[in-house]
Amino acid sequence: MRATTLGPGGPRVNVVGLGCMGMSWGYDELGRDDRTSIEVINRAIDLGCDLIDTADQYGPFHNERLVGRAIRGRRDEVVLATKGGLVVDGSRKTYRNGRPEHLRAACEASLLRLGVDHVDLYQLHRIDPAVPVEESWGALAELVREGKVGAIGLSEASVEEIRRAQAIHPVASVQSELSLWSREPLGDGVLAHCASSGIAFIAYAPLGRGFLSGRIGSAGDLPEVDGRHRTPRFQPDAIDANQAIVATMRKVADGLAVTVPQLALAWVLAQGEHVVALPGTKTPRYLEENVAAAGVTLPGAALADLANLPAAVGTRY
Ligand SMILES: NC(=O)c1ccc[n+]([C@@H]2O[C@H](COP(=O)([O-])OP(=O)(O)OC[C@H]3O[C@@H](n4cnc5c(N)ncnc54)[C@H](OP(=O)(O)O)[C@@H]3O)[C@@H](O)[C@H]2O)c1
Repeated sequence: MRATTLGPGGPRVNVVGLGCMGMSWGYDELGRDDRTSIEVINRAIDLGCDLIDTADQYGPFHNERLVGRAIRGRRDEVVLATKGGLVVDGSRKTYRNGRPEHLRAACEASLLRLGVDHVDLYQLHRIDPAVPVEESWGALAELVREGKVGAIGLSEASVEEIRRAQAIHPVASVQSELSLWSREPLGDGVLAHCASSGIAFIAYAPLGRGFLSGRIGSAGDLPEVDGRHRTPRFQPDAIDANQAIVATMRKVADGLAVTVPQLALAWVLAQGEHVVALPGTKTPRYLEENVAAAGVTLPGAALADLANLPAAVGTRY
């Protein structure tokens, strides 16, 4: 698989990683199956998906413990990434906390849960509007100096915020949503800024939270207890309207003899050498399908068809 670098001088990662969130949080939480999830993580490592991504928010805490169990004995084969800066309260609402003392404590707790002495990439999950990014980033830079963290990254940051962080310590990566129905990083300059600064762009939800797999025809296809039911794009009317996106994708995919999810991932990878696609799955056969997308090159005509897809109905959050 093709590889890229997490920031200037940072570790190399293959361009299809594995996002572990859905094994614990956000989607089918009642259907958690730790045994299969651990198998999926190990198979991903076998297949070369070396970027394994988690966060303290996911569960909270279940996902980091799960990933820690899965990679035991294989620590050196993975580029281990986690995140801090989001806190889930007793009623499962999420808040931002970018205060230096919180980030330090959160990182140390993540290391314990993961069972490791350092992570390769520690990401500020969201910038806290109540804390200057310089303060949060300075705290993360200190963790690098102490050897607890190999490199540091941002998530959902603007070009201005990335520049402010870069002035203090190198930014290894920016993790933001990028997919055929979420193209904001192309328009707001983040993708281009990352390319010109040698920053890896980690595209989260490259399958549109599952919708761009073409396998969600109605809200009834989602488990009853599934966070997507609360998001605008997964309201029944939006799901209906957005089938137009999938219909065009299916035509293009059929013409190339690839599957719809592979087309979605190949488009993300076509956005730049510095882009890593981070699909999430807890399903062995989906993992195999997604990894194979790394070998798909899209011809110009397909890219042109995909440039003309209708805009998504419903906002991301
Ligand atoms: N930085 C952030 O703020 C942020 C936010 C969201 C996510 N993330 C990261 O990004 C990762 C991926 O995002 P995501 O999981 O939300 O969205 P995604 O990768 O776009 O979609 C995941 C969904 O697609 C399904 N799926 C995966 N491969 C498939 C295939 N080949 N065919 C059919 N369905 C398929 C999964 O099903 P199954 O799970 O049932 O297999 C799951 O429901 C997360 O795990 C997390 O690490 C980061």
